[in-house]
Amino acid sequence: DGDVYNYYADGEWKKSSSGKSVAIINPTTRKTQYKVQACTQEEVNKVMEAAKSAQKSWAKTPLWKRAELLHRAAAILKEHKTPIAECLVKEIAKPAKDAVTEVVRSGDLISYTAEEGVRILGEGKFLVSDSFPGNQRTKYCLTSKIPLGVILAIPPFNYPVNLAVSKVAPALIAGNSLVLKPPTQGAVSALHMVQCFHLAGFPKGLISCVTGKGSEIGDFLTMHPGAGMIPLQMELGGKDACIVLEDADLDLVAANIIKGGFSYSGQRCTAVKVVLVMESVSNVLVEKVKAQVAKLTVGAPEDDCDITPVVSESSANFIEGLVKDAKEKGATFCEEYKRDGNLIWPLLLDNVRPDMRIAWEEPFGPVLPVIRINSIEEGIHHCNASNFGLQGCVFTKDVNKAILISDAMETGTVQINSAPARGPDHFPFQGLKDSGIGSQGVTNSINMMTKIKTTVINLP
Ligand code: G3H
Repeated sequence: DGDVYNYYADGEWKKSSSGKSVAIINPTTRKTQYKVQACTQEEVNKVMEAAKSAQKSWAKTPLWKRAELLHRAAAILKEHKTPIAECLVKEIAKPAKDAVTEVVRSGDLISYTAEEGVRILGEGKFLVSDSFPGNQRTKYCLTSKIPLGVILAIPPFNYPVNLAVSKVAPALIAGNSLVLKPPTQGAVSALHMVQCFHLAGFPKGLISCVTGKGSEIGDFLTMHPGAGMIPLQMELGGKDACIVLEDADLDLVAANIIKGGFSYSGQRCTAVKVVLVMESVSNVLVEKVKAQVAKLTVGAPEDDCDITPVVSESSANFIEGLVKDAKEKGATFCEEYKRDGNLIWPLLLDNVRPDMRIAWEEPFGPVLPVIRINSIEEGIHHCNASNFGLQGCVFTKDVNKAILISDAMETGTVQINSAPARGPDHFPFQGLKDSGIGSQGVTNSINMMTKIKTTVINLP
């Protein structure tokens, strides 16, 4: 059936025995754009089995060879940036230029991971016993990093390629095998990415990509005994605050609020999701942001508009619910609320108060609340009262204050004088509280996907 994209197992593209498919709805047209196989639990069992056996010989493949294959995959991915970016445009309505950037960034991430991997996995430790009380120098301990086994990766819709390779590459360089379950919106982009790994020549069964409903195979995969005792690394939601002090460069703040709050229509875990601004500068800041919101282009991702349709109708409905709640409770609308299908016009909500849902919930859309504060403590208190703790940012010219605020904010990262962002991709990236488990970034991800193995030489 040429209309349905096949899934990838045993180094081949296959049809599911279910005979069923899952539709991918183009967020812009709201019509079916692609279809992917609805894989069965039995097919999942088979890929897990194949991943287990392929991993054994992959772990014995020299590290430099594993790196070489990853470099090849990175180059092939970059060569195919145009068709993959076109899929991102159709599946998740990512603006055309950002879609290309996602693919190129992914190629860079794979190459960087290969380079970092040969360095950090090429080193171990040597310990001697007589540093611990009661011991003579009779035991030598050698440590090395070994793979965990089978890694399961479930990336989200907003970066189906980049947040897939950020798991795939570290897993492979460390000697693991990989089972990928892409998000449905973004599955075809991910399948194209997998084809690049296929063309690079990785061994059969080492990488598989199963598509289908989360309820049928997603939950089944996360509880699969084949991935048992493997630690979790999770990147989840955020409610990243932007704290603005009286001495901040307000033009810089406004530019960062626009980029941080509205790029990819706010559908980034690291988007600015609440502005906490000192009352004395709030009128000026709101005016500056308003002026720039008015310049944002709104429309189709093919036209590279700044604001494009959000990923699904249910997402648009959720965002609308937050906007209506804020309206009822008296927020100031800096623009008129406008929606057409999944397309929501950018909206700045001023004078938001803590009793409004949007003060706490994550819209994942182009709607940004502003809360006016009267002290730094009030800003920190609001930030720390959130269940989330991904990133945050503070704008001030006083570096001492910035450091103190950073220390006080319960988030995985604080950016001083810039909007939150995950990259550069070798920086540690982690969420506190409900925002995640473990730390990502190239180096941390490689380490996360290994275990320590020790050999102790006992001298007579
Ligand atoms: O949506 C979550 C992503 O990890 C954010 O990445 O900061 O590069 O947009 P980004």
